Amino acid sequence: MSDGKKLRAAVLVSGGGTNLQALIDSVRDGRVRNTEIICVISNNPGAYALKRAEKAGIPHETISPKDYPDREAFDSALTDRLISLKPGLIVLAGCLLKIPPALIAAFPNRIINIHPALIPAFSGKGYYGLRVHEAALKRGVRVSGATVHFVNDELDGGPIILQKAVSVLEDDTPEVLQRRIMEEAEWKILPQAVDLIAAGRVYVDENGRVRTDGAREVI
Ligand code: GRF
Repeated sequence: MSDGKKLRAAVLVSGGGTNLQALIDSVRDGRVRNTEIICVISNNPGAYALKRAEKAGIPHETISPKDYPDREAFDSALTDRLISLKPGLIVLAGCLLKIPPALIAAFPNRIINIHPALIPAFSGKGYYGLRVHEAALKRGVRVSGATVHFVNDELDGGPIILQKAVSVLEDDTPEVLQRRIMEEAEWKILPQAVDLIAAGRVYVDENGRVRTDGAREVI
């Protein structure tokens, strides 16, 4: 937000919430500027990410598909809730939900996701969680990494904001590689992307590519 108002970020989570934690810590210590995390929403009531939000004093809630008669009702509840919060940005931080098309349509280029690979590698249908790292190891790639991108109708197909490469070592297990990618890439580029967006330095050009005002060099 270049007009001096804080960016209101809502964060969607499903699990452990280490990316949420990186964001909370970065807002607190000033690496992410001009941003307020207004709400954390989980589709999973048992997500440890909710505890992290609670400890940080951030409003948090569960919107679970199990509490609705069908997917359509759940999708509308989630979409309506987010619209009512009026966020300037929705951050998917380890969110395993299929984002409802109506939600994507309501927030064009206002939803970002972190994916634990260098898109377009190991992305799209079926590539989530440890499966991404299993596939990377199976293929024998020497580098993997993480990508922050805008969310559009194509799974993992939206405009790419930031990417960071991470070495793959010969004895890596999926768990070891996952951890290295989190530590060296995800926990850095997700907060960095939010900071850039809050500074009004990210936009999607007429070709559907992100321009970051020279920010690629600051990683
Ligand atoms: C991360 O690897 C993220 O890239 C992926 O799911 C994992 C979530 O981890 N989408 P956490 O919940 O942020 O700890």
